[in-house]
Amino acid sequence: MLEIDNLSIKVENFYIVRNVSLSVRKGEILGIIGESGSGKSITALSILKLIPESLKISGTVKVNGRDIYELEEREFNKNIRWKTVSIIFQDPAASLNPLLTIGEQIKEAIIFHEEKKENLKDTIINLLSEVEIKEPETVYKSYPHHLSGGMKQRAMIAMALSCNPDFIIADEPTTALDKQTEHKIIKLLKNLSKNKNTGVIFISHDIEVIETIADTITVMYAGFVMESGETGEVIKKPYHPYTKGLIECIPKVEGKGKRKLPVIPGNVTDIKSRPSGCPFHPRCSKRKEVCQRELPPLKQIEKRTVRCFFPEYEAV
Ligand SMILES: Nc1ncnc2c1ncn2[C@@H]1O[C@H](COP(=O)(O)OP(=O)(O)O)[C@@H](O)[C@H]1O
Ligand SMILES: [Mg+2]
Repeated sequence: MLEIDNLSIKVENFYIVRNVSLSVRKGEILGIIGESGSGKSITALSILKLIPESLKISGTVKVNGRDIYELEEREFNKNIRWKTVSIIFQDPAASLNPLLTIGEQIKEAIIFHEEKKENLKDTIINLLSEVEIKEPETVYKSYPHHLSGGMKQRAMIAMALSCNPDFIIADEPTTALDKQTEHKIIKLLKNLSKNKNTGVIFISHDIEVIETIADTITVMYAGFVMESGETGEVIKKPYHPYTKGLIECIPKVEGKGKRKLPVIPGNVTDIKSRPSGCPFHPRCSKRKEVCQRELPPLKQIEKRTVRCFFPEYEAV
């Protein structure tokens, strides 16, 4: 199990992330959804201790029961980073070394973390086949610039899998890809998670993508968790007005192929000028006076959580 409990991250006196709790089990996919700037990446980076030192962090991050911020750096690097939790970023080109072939760089990762040296070529060719690369021998010998965006991302996934991690964090891994390739990569990650019993935290600003891939969903806004629960339930009946807005933004084909794309009015606020009360209140059509004054607590309603004074479920 990977668990974040009450995580807050501050820059100077401003909160970037506030009281965030979430968890994912092995073999399960957690989707984190939210508009740009809502704190998704910084939350994910905290799991790999990749937060810059200028930021103040509080709360706990536990991987298989161990608090990673209590571990010595050496222990963390040897046993957790990459071996237990690995990460895939949005831009595979920036994460791959342009000077090494795909084979060489996966080999380096394995040697560095596993100190394993035998049959590495076979292991890597197998990994490349696992991520459904059709000509693994050719890709093994290729440099990143020889590969398409989708292929590069598959190679990154192979690298992330190379030390058999229990968890993979995928931070907008398909955002740079075309829709068709995105769909294939999502299917691949979903299959890998089930077949290898890997827990995945999949981050996206696209609720359609999250709906396709995730078992559970956490909705973030302005550094807060606004709602969380089982994906099907949340999509079917969002309790938070923000979640509802996101779902209404899913384009629906209307009439003769016309697409309607409503948007939630307003913008995500800058961290330095966050409104008082509920951070979503300036954009919320259901706001009342209290929403401007007080931060709503995170309520637990059966298996769901929601941070709203007037969640939708009370209205029915
Ligand atoms: N190193 C940093 N120093 C200061 N502010 C940061 C830093 N990293 C991120 N932020 C701020 O934290 C907020 C959340 O960022 P991020 O986690 O990248 O959002 P998301 O991934 O949801 O788009 C943003 O307002 C961003 O400007
Ligand atoms: Mg991000």
